[in-house]
Amino acid sequence: MTVSEIFASMEYGTAPESAADALAWIAEQGGQFGHFIDGAFTSPGEGFETRNPATGETLARLSQATQDDVDRAVAAARRAQPRWEKLGGHGRARFLYSLARLLQKHSRLFAVLETLDNGKPIREARDIDIPLAQRHFYFHAGMAQLMPTELADRAPIGVCGQIIPWNFPLLMLAWKIAPALAMGNTVVLKPAEYTSLTALLFAEICTQAGLPKGVVNIVIGDGAVGERVVAAPVDKIAFTGSTEVGRRIREQTAGSGKALTLELGGKSPYIVFDDADIDSAVEGLVDAIWFNQGQVCCAGSRLLVHEPVADVFYRKLRARMDKLRVGDPMDKNTDVGAIVDPVQVSHISGLVSANRSGDTHVAPVTIPQTGSFYPPTLITGLNPADTLMQEEIFGPVLVSTTFRTPAEAVQLANNTRYGLAATVWSENINLALDIAPKLAAGIVWINGTNMMDAAAGFGGVRESGFGREGGWEGLAAYTKPKSKPKPLRKIARVTGKASPADAIDRTSKLYIGGKQARPDGGYSRPVFNKSGGLAGHVSLANRKDVRNAVEAARSAGAWSKTTGHLRAQILYYIAENLSARAGEFAARLNALQGGTRGAAEVEATVQRLFTYAAWADKFDGQIHGVPLRGVALGMKEPVGVIGAICPDEAPLLGLVSCMAPAIAMGNRVILAASEPFPLAATDFVQVLETSDVPAGVVNILTGDHADSAAPLAGHMDVDAVWCFGAAGLSETVEKAAASNLKRTWVNHGRARDWNGPDGEGRAFLEAATEVKNVWIPYGE
Ligand code: NAI
Repeated sequence: MTVSEIFASMEYGTAPESAADALAWIAEQGGQFGHFIDGAFTSPGEGFETRNPATGETLARLSQATQDDVDRAVAAARRAQPRWEKLGGHGRARFLYSLARLLQKHSRLFAVLETLDNGKPIREARDIDIPLAQRHFYFHAGMAQLMPTELADRAPIGVCGQIIPWNFPLLMLAWKIAPALAMGNTVVLKPAEYTSLTALLFAEICTQAGLPKGVVNIVIGDGAVGERVVAAPVDKIAFTGSTEVGRRIREQTAGSGKALTLELGGKSPYIVFDDADIDSAVEGLVDAIWFNQGQVCCAGSRLLVHEPVADVFYRKLRARMDKLRVGDPMDKNTDVGAIVDPVQVSHISGLVSANRSGDTHVAPVTIPQTGSFYPPTLITGLNPADTLMQEEIFGPVLVSTTFRTPAEAVQLANNTRYGLAATVWSENINLALDIAPKLAAGIVWINGTNMMDAAAGFGGVRESGFGREGGWEGLAAYTKPKSKPKPLRKIARVTGKASPADAIDRTSKLYIGGKQARPDGGYSRPVFNKSGGLAGHVSLANRKDVRNAVEAARSAGAWSKTTGHLRAQILYYIAENLSARAGEFAARLNALQGGTRGAAEVEATVQRLFTYAAWADKFDGQIHGVPLRGVALGMKEPVGVIGAICPDEAPLLGLVSCMAPAIAMGNRVILAASEPFPLAATDFVQVLETSDVPAGVVNILTGDHADSAAPLAGHMDVDAVWCFGAAGLSETVEKAAASNLKRTWVNHGRARDWNGPDGEGRAFLEAATEVKNVWIPYGE
């Protein structure tokens, strides 16, 4: 071929990477692997073959971890943890740094092994996966170093069970192991069954780094091994994978006291406005949906194009995708490699062939005869409700529709059960920054896509899971407060007897949508003072009342758009009005609970309202300097509708300790008042009614917590549930919350000192906010 012919056709040859060193490493291990437990590899046991998806050839034999293997791994991690913690921040930082250096030293071997095992193009493994994994260890070496000063009140959680998927095998390992180790935890990690090799090579690196035995343990196997890890006596489970498995793990760990973070699926919108730089937006889609064959949880898989530019955009997009080079992942010129396993190819083709809507364009590329490949595909003209617009395909298939106005773009973008990421293309900064806060997503990229960095938290909302990985917020998932909690004391309802002198009916109502409402069931029960005399009657809320309260809270969405300044004023006003009636409230509290602490509780409640009035306009986000041409704005947003089972103890202070941080941050709340002492809450309704709190922002239910906990936690329109009630309720809440994978914050039967620092502060504010990282171009 002459040079002029090459220029005419723009064809170019192959640039193959050698597999020799990686295959030699596998051969050195005898072609078969055991598990990495307590600092050593176990002898290989019964198991399965791991294959190269591009060729179908067997790469190695792996062992399926038995119950005994998992038990030994967890026991090793448990033994190693105290000493690892005592090593201190600097001691751990040195090990993390050493791991980062060794990853760097062996990057080519890691990259080649990753590509052989996973099928991703070598260019991506070499330039993205492995450098980002290194960056994660460097970044968290820094976090370990800073922990003693910057997180002085935090302690490690203990032993962490970590389960990761096959799409970014080493990178997901780094996301899990680096922060866990930095904060003083030890781990038992299970890689995905298709892609365990780089985790095993990482185990070897741990040995080279001299990492104390038992700090990192790696068990190999499929979902059955994952289930064993989930059931094991670990203190935390961190999972990345499908929403279906995530939901099951939520149910299985409910009530166990194990901390949980879930990073699940997505169907992320990619919005192109008519004023976008069209060529850049087209090129962005190559990174959004054809990067890693579309097997990316945050892939821009749902293209929304502004109608005026749709035709030209689709034309350019088809031209670009038709030029993608699909084939041998070991060729450095390959754009789209192999799908991880034939099972996933049939999953993708099953979904695509069942589709009857829109126009399908398949890139006219030559697919290799052997191996698992799928051609880049674009399906335009779909309706928002079509299966392909809603279901995660997890392959190189882009689905699309058009929109007419920015408002419609937002509506379409948010028309999904997921909320992981979103991409916005527009040359108009006003438009892009107007859209970003309106998107239900944990990450928003403006004029760029699929950017990730250790400094910017990654994670989603809705059924994309909860918790963040990376950044300062990611550390919360690997630490707990240093203070040792006491067990919760059960508080019984006061019993007594109504006398004929109590004939006048004094039944307090529920407070829903700014109005006092009779309970749907029409039931009430007497509440007695400590002395045994009748204090009044209280309404018993049922599931219908919960639904009404949720509806009211949903309709009060305008509250989430108010300024912190306005919310602060309303909180001060509530405090002022409570203060004016302090004597009356103190008397009520003394009568209900006995003793003379009522005045102190009222005073503490007023102070708490002041605290959150103060925070309302000060709990700021962060700006992350990311090593790309831009910054990530870590914005604190309200969670939405929060349901709270308030503590039985401290009936007024506890109620306000839940309400005030939530509404200060712009949430709307449904509060289930103290079960034994509900009348302090119903009296408080009168304070709310005179304090300019808009209807539906605060809703108060009374009655049995057991009647409201499950409906509240299971409701699809509730975004988070807090539970400070009796011990058994934590399990009810966590289990029911699996419905839409909402965030939960429960006490697991541990007491909280509502009068002390434990009863207020950052923990509440963090639970009342979601961090949205908005990536914007900035600087050179
Ligand atoms: P998966 O969720 O089954 O696998 C992820 C990890 O969980 C693997 O390590 C697996 O062995 C483990 N696992 C499976 N069942 C488990 C259980 N019952 N308990 C504990 N661990 C368990 O994902 P899979 O089946 O490989 O892929 C199916 C679909 O899931 C994909 O088509 C894609 O839509 C989605 N997916 C999403 C990912 C994401 O990052 N959001 C990653 C992987 C898959």
